[in-house]
This record gives sequence, structure tokens and C-alpha cells, in this order.
Amino acid sequence: MKIAVWKETRGDERRVAATPDTVKKFIDLGFRVAVEAGAGLNSSIPDAAYLDAGATIAKSARDAASGADIILKVSRPTAKERPNLPKGVILVAILAPHADAESIKAYARGGVTAFAMELMPRITRAQSMDVLSSQSNLAGYKAVLDAAGVYGRVFPMMMTAAGTLAPAKVMVMGVGVAGLQAIATARRLGAIVSATDVRMATKEQVESLGAKFVMVEDDEAREAETAGGYAKEMSKAYQKKQAALIGETIQKQDIVITTALIPGRPAPVLITKEMVKTMRPGSVIVDLAVEMGGNCELSKPGEVVDAGGVKIVGYLNVPSRLAADASALYAKNLLNFVTMLVDAEKKEIAIDWDDEILKAITLARGGKIVHPNYGGK
Ligand code: NAI
Repeated sequence: MKIAVWKETRGDERRVAATPDTVKKFIDLGFRVAVEAGAGLNSSIPDAAYLDAGATIAKSARDAASGADIILKVSRPTAKERPNLPKGVILVAILAPHADAESIKAYARGGVTAFAMELMPRITRAQSMDVLSSQSNLAGYKAVLDAAGVYGRVFPMMMTAAGTLAPAKVMVMGVGVAGLQAIATARRLGAIVSATDVRMATKEQVESLGAKFVMVEDDEAREAETAGGYAKEMSKAYQKKQAALIGETIQKQDIVITTALIPGRPAPVLITKEMVKTMRPGSVIVDLAVEMGGNCELSKPGEVVDAGGVKIVGYLNVPSRLAADASALYAKNLLNFVTMLVDAEKKEIAIDWDDEILKAITLARGGKIVHPNYGGK
């Protein structure tokens, strides 16, 4: 059995899909591992570290893939990379099926078995393979540091001989995995933190982290959570009530971190242009939902916008800004997943296609698109 680890080629992608630690474990499972030269450099992993772990270093993606059963990546292959996928290979990566229907067709045409790791179901057994959780957690942490980086004031209260500085008021909108970590991080930095969500279950979680919970609590909010734990898109009437609450609260905030997402839909707009105008100059908004259209009307992908002195940060691929740790956790998610595909005694790939995890994440297989949500039957 052979695994290939490709170097990421998309501009903002600094992560890598395997670490020396996971390479060792793959070898224990019975794999040979070929890592494309330089794959780990942006995550501070030199080729020598992979060699020490027992991998070989391949000159190119094509060389690494030669004879491979499995290819591990972070982002989906580009159109230029796709021809290097050997027929019959298993591709494991974040495949963004909602954004790239063309690539799903190409996997099917090329006989590639394509596993989209971000479609991992939110069940207990899959927690250790849940790339959205491992990466969102880091994004939530980094969002607070990014806010601190552009904020011209301090987070904690400081009593000095020259005077007292007030603590920052931080509001987190959307309290999933990223939001909870943002709350915890802002609290550790000494800010006064409040948070909001549409799922009632988040109230207790927010309060247990020492933050204040603010939300429109009505019958609709009691039903806002899907069986999978995600939020639904809220009605116009709810959105109006929520906008009034946010409008009133936001003027008093120094920092707002937004993380609100609805699976398969554009991100809800929670902060309008008008609301931004009511904020104090020097305030900062970090919009973690910018890649899904943004929670703030004024955020721009990849930019820091200055709107009348309010800075709106729209950095892309935030987990990649913490590449070394993000890679370590992502690589571990992939190791746990690949382990599931292997018969440990026979040391061969043995896939149970009836497993609900595989049903949820398989986009293409045997020359066909198989995922019902992305054109399969
Ligand atoms: P997400 O990234 O899809 O959304 C982030 C947050 O935005 C969610 O809390 C959502 O309720 C909120 N949101 C959506 N629309 C909103 C609006 N209009 N206004 C305010 N907030 C809004 O969510 P994430 O982080 O992926 O987590 C979703 C759930 O899944 C959580 O309950 C989490 O605890 C659960 N989970 C379960 C796992 C497991 O059992 N394996 C693993 C990871 C998460």
C-alpha cells in the first residue's frame, strides 16, 4: 500500500496533509509514504523530517502519485494538478463540492474515489476525523489575535501610574466551534465578552466560558437547530428582531468576531453598513464567514477594509495562518480516517461502503458521481 502527500499549490494554502508523526503511523499500518519535495516547508516541516520518519521524498506530484493507492491533500487539486491523479486512486482532502462541481465530474471521469473530509458527519465516532472542528477551533483563536493585531488599544484592563486603560468589549456572533474558541481566547486576553447565536443550546456554553449571552429567544429559536447540530436559515421576521438586537448591542463593542454559517447557504448578513456607522472609530470587526459571503455587509475577501475608522478584517483561510498547528491537527484527522480504510491484519485497503461515514463523504467512485447532494444518485 502506498500513500502520496502532495505539496499544496493554491496561493493562500500553507498547510500540509501529513506530518512526520502521521507518516510514522502510516508506515506502522503497512503503507509506504512518498512526500512531494517541499510539501511541509510552509508548516515548518523540512523534507529531512519526513525522511527521518521513514518517508521518501518525490521530486514532483506525479512522481509521488506513481503507484499510490491514496493521495492526501489539504485543498482540492487545481485543474492543473488533476491530470496527476492516477486512475483508481483514493483522494482525501477538503474538496469544496459546493464550490466546484466541475472537479467532481473530473474525479468521476478519471476513476478517482473522492472523499470530501468537510462532509464528515457530526457523530461521536467521527469526531477524531472532523476537519471542520479541528480547523475552526484554530480559526476562532486566530481571529481574536488578528483583531488584537489591528486594534489600537489593549484587551485587558491596565492600571498604570500614567492612568487606567479600560478593558476591550468583545462580541462573538455565531457560537459554534470557532465562536467558542474565540470567546475563550478573548477572555484569556482580559476582554469583557458577550456572544450571540440562533441556537438556544449555545446559551449554557457561552455562560460556562464566563461570557454574557445575548439573543432573540422565541419559538423559532427553540427550533433553530437541525438534527446534525447546525443552524437553519431564520425567517425574515426573526432576522428583523435579531437585527434590532444586534444594532443596539454593537454600538457598545470594540471588537466583533463573526463566525455565523448555515451549511450549504450563503452566510447570514448580521452587520449592515448602517450598523458599522454606529461603531466607534478604532473598533474592529473580524469576519470569519467572509469566504461564504460574509456576516458583515462591508467585509471584502482577503482585505482589511477601513470604514470610517472601523477596521473590517476579511482574511482568507484563517487556519492556514497557523499552518504548523493546523497541519498537525488536520494530518491527525486524516490518519484516523485512513486507519478506518485499512484491514490491519492483512495490511490491505478494505473499505466498508455501507458505513455511514463513507456514505456521507464519498463524492465519486467507480467512474461515477455518487453523492446525492452533488449530482449523484
Ligand atoms: P457552523 O460553522 O456551521 O456555524 C457557526 C455558528 O453560527 C453556529 O453556532 C450557528 O448556530 C451560528 N449561526 C448560524 N446562523 C446564525 C445567525 N443568523 N445568527 C447567529 N448565529 C448564527 O457551526 P459549527 O462550528 O460547525 O458547529 C455546529 C454544531 O455542531 C455545534 O453545535 C457544535 O457543537 C456541533 N459539533 C458537533 C460535533 C460532533 O458531535 N462530532 C463536532 C463539531 C461540532
